[in-house]
Amino acid sequence: MQTLPAAPELTEEEFADISQLVKKECGINLTEGKKELVKARLARRLKELGLRSYGAYYEYLRNGDRTDEMILMMDVLSTHVTQFFRQPEQFHYLRQVYLVQKLGAAGAGMIKLRVWSAGCASGEEAYSLAVLLCESLPLGRTWDVRILATDLSTRMLAQARAGTYTAEDVKDIPPAWLKKYFRWDKSRGAAGYCVSEQVKKMVSFARLNLMEASWPMRGPFDLIFCRNVMIYFESDIRQQLINRFWSLLAGNGLLAVGQAEGFSGIKNDFKYLGYSLYGKK
Ligand SMILES: C[S@@+](CC[C@H](N)C(=O)[O-])C[C@H]1O[C@@H](n2cnc3c(N)ncnc32)[C@H](O)[C@@H]1O
Repeated sequence: MQTLPAAPELTEEEFADISQLVKKECGINLTEGKKELVKARLARRLKELGLRSYGAYYEYLRNGDRTDEMILMMDVLSTHVTQFFRQPEQFHYLRQVYLVQKLGAAGAGMIKLRVWSAGCASGEEAYSLAVLLCESLPLGRTWDVRILATDLSTRMLAQARAGTYTAEDVKDIPPAWLKKYFRWDKSRGAAGYCVSEQVKKMVSFARLNLMEASWPMRGPFDLIFCRNVMIYFESDIRQQLINRFWSLLAGNGLLAVGQAEGFSGIKNDFKYLGYSLYGKK
């Protein structure tokens, strides 16, 4: 029987170099506890590139234009866990409070909504928002809704654009909505639940690294969902992002963050609305 060669050792110095690079490029803070994870997840890239050490990989990343490799590395080192209607109480709030107010304010006019899912992973968050809006906005009224969904990972964005999911992925979607907004395509095997064209058309996916000094969109957004992304960033980066989200939100806009992501230590003028939701006023 053939034995696989063991992954090379990841020295403290190599880990420090790689961590610094990752923090600079995408904000993710790889603490000491993540050393084994970094070693395991990058071992395959080393093998594929024929490199003998993590130090050689670091040098490879730094020499020449390695944008594609950098994207691959950030992809394997970040967490992409997500689910449909994650933190359901936020979706209840949107439907029962935010949209009711929005509809009241719109009077008989057109209902315009601009939404951004920042760090959308494989698309579940953006499609959940689209389905919720389809269900909540009244028929017979004109609405103009656009959802922008961005992520760092090109692999996640490809999955999101495909919009096909397994039975396990769609288990949190209310059955009536699953029936209405998804179709089953048995030729796709296990990932046979396909997002309907109506829902797909509402969402545009694009690659965006939140660490970039300038973002292409000008806003204003009514809703920004940036959930379970900033949790991996240090407070200085979180502070910068929250300031940037504030500037891009409309006057009565709302920012949703993840359950475990408080604003402690972050200077801000947001009003806490409960359920990890923050209002601009
Ligand atoms: C845990 S998932 C969260 C998905 C979804 N927002 C949710 O809460 O279910 C985190 C996502 O953030 C993305 N991400 C991490 N750092 C990023 C950065 N600097 N810019 C953009 N996206 C980033 C990752 O690629 C990953 O898909």
